[in-house]
Amino acid sequence: MKLTSRSVSLIPLVATVAAAVLGASLIVTATANAATTLGAAAAQSGRYYGTAVAAGKLGDSTYVNILNTEFNMVTAENEMKWDATEPNRGQFNYSGGDRILNQAVGNGKRVRGHALLWHQQQPGWAQGLSGSDLRQAAINHVTQVATHYRGKIYAWDVVNEAFADGGSGGRRDSNLQRTGNDWIEAAFRAARAADPAAKLCYNDYNTDGINAKSTGIYNMVRDFKSRGVPIDCVGLQAHLTNNAPSDMQANIQRFADLGVDVQITELDIAGSNQANAYGAVTRACLAVARCTGITVWGIRDSDSWRTGENPLLFTSSGAKKAAYNSVLDALNAGGPGPTTTTTTTTTTTTTTTDPVPGGCTASVSLNQWNGGFVATIKVTAGSSALRGWRVTTTLSSGTVTSSWSANGSGTSGTVNWTNVDYNANVPAGQSTEFGFQGNGSGSGLNPSCAAS
Ligand code: G3I
Repeated sequence: MKLTSRSVSLIPLVATVAAAVLGASLIVTATANAATTLGAAAAQSGRYYGTAVAAGKLGDSTYVNILNTEFNMVTAENEMKWDATEPNRGQFNYSGGDRILNQAVGNGKRVRGHALLWHQQQPGWAQGLSGSDLRQAAINHVTQVATHYRGKIYAWDVVNEAFADGGSGGRRDSNLQRTGNDWIEAAFRAARAADPAAKLCYNDYNTDGINAKSTGIYNMVRDFKSRGVPIDCVGLQAHLTNNAPSDMQANIQRFADLGVDVQITELDIAGSNQANAYGAVTRACLAVARCTGITVWGIRDSDSWRTGENPLLFTSSGAKKAAYNSVLDALNAGGPGPTTTTTTTTTTTTTTTDPVPGGCTASVSLNQWNGGFVATIKVTAGSSALRGWRVTTTLSSGTVTSSWSANGSGTSGTVNWTNVDYNANVPAGQSTEFGFQGNGSGSGLNPSCAAS
């Protein structure tokens, strides 16, 4: 068996190499537990690897096969935007978004929500509004859509592309901006109230390296954190050509140092240096513990919005490109795992140890405020896939008021949580999340997990 340079370069592997000299020939046997899909490779360091999905392509078997095999996070490319979800004022249409979400969760994937407010892809009726009428319509839109998807979204792009290009570092002019500079924080507060479990992100392009635009966003995030405006993450879209910015890792790190997660949200790279650049972006994320995942903006080159530039990881016929191997190798080489994040006062993270091969672990991210809390529990499969799971938590003084993505046996004391239909199956080494909100204190939950 040939021992390739690729298989020996993979760091976190359990590798067994047995060599015996038989006469003149050397026989080498190598067993490398390198992950063979993007999602599984990212999961080794607790991250996800996602893609944008178009609802209209879910009947294409080549597309769906790659989606189901390779990715464990999904973003609706257009179906959760304002023009799609509220075509007429006060009349909501979730058909495309729900189709994508149901396909994703039905196949064990999580979903990034994109995007609640943006100056583009507004319905015609909103384009015609201004002032307090537009502000009211915009905040109502945030509340309604985030409520519809409450408990089902990993992270929302609450506001998309609100900063100006060029050197000003200031806001872009738009109808939303003209309602007052506080429109972004109003949107984040409305999103938090509607879905306390979703991470809330600000998302933009040409902000992948350190420049005036990304510094403007950095200053906004720093201001939000100092004033308690709820923000959990920053999305770097990363629509690139040939290279990752040389200071991309430093840029990710400076946002992380403000206390927010960073996600690469719409990655695509054109140009002849594509494979190298994909590797560089992957390594820049993996080098920062709070860079929690990467999403490519489509599956095959023919699925890309950048027509003719072939900026994705699969050819138009669905074959893996050199860029794919570059990403997979970088993911398998690993990096520090993401940290657990919260938005307000207290974070407590407890992780149980994997009890048996094939068992599971549970960890909690607690967002505690005066009088209430949201607990997000992460269930991670051990060395075998889970077909069902049970998590036990202890609430010594708090009371559960609502929960999502699991069934609870009670509201106080020892509570057993069991999977719902769509998250029973968790592939080996991968994770799913559920959560609950409560009154009082959520400290000391001490979750333990068992396969069932
Ligand atoms: O669905 C209609 C179809 O019925 C109609 O015949 C056709 C005619 O133009 O249009 C189709 O809608 C198009 C839609 O994509 C679906 O293909 C829209 O015109 C087109 O504007 C829309 O483009 C999307 C673009 O956002 C809108 O600005 C792209 O698919 C989508 O990839 C792109 O994504 C954005 C992110 O949301 C934000 N960051 C930048 C990124 C790339 O532009």
